Amino acid sequence: MSVTKEAVFKMGEAKKEWLDVAVSALDKAYVPYSRFPVGACLVTKEGKVYQGLNIENASYGLSNCAERTAFFKAVSEGERDFQHLVIAGHTPEPISPCGACRQVMVEFCEPTMPVTLLGDDGVMMETTIEQLLPYSFNNKDLPG
Ligand code: THU
Repeated sequence: MSVTKEAVFKMGEAKKEWLDVAVSALDKAYVPYSRFPVGACLVTKEGKVYQGLNIENASYGLSNCAERTAFFKAVSEGERDFQHLVIAGHTPEPISPCGACRQVMVEFCEPTMPVTLLGDDGVMMETTIEQLLPYSFNNKDLPG
């Protein structure tokens, strides 16, 4: 799968490099059970990129999504400030992130942060953290 220039132009926001990082993760995803690879590219405000991919397990429930892999890699390296997330699926239409990943996004990202969803042949959709998880439970709900 390749990302066309035209598709990138329509998107406006996500740099081609970030799309390529998310797409190239599809080949590295560890998906022997679902055969459903997902790739992610999480970009810090300084422009550093963290690649994520899904990692499954024979004990299926332990599988980790691509998005959370990217967040846990970045956060464990001390990153806290993010500007963009790209999620790539090997599907005709872009895939939409699962609820658990949306909650992790809310923890670390501003509500208006853009998220680019990318399917095969450069089919893209742009959304934001707050569109993905409106009225979220977050640290503002906690006392103190
Ligand atoms: N998956 C992701 O990695 N991200 C998503 O947003 C949705 C689902 C993974 C989990 C599992 O490895 C496979 O896709 C099928 O559910």
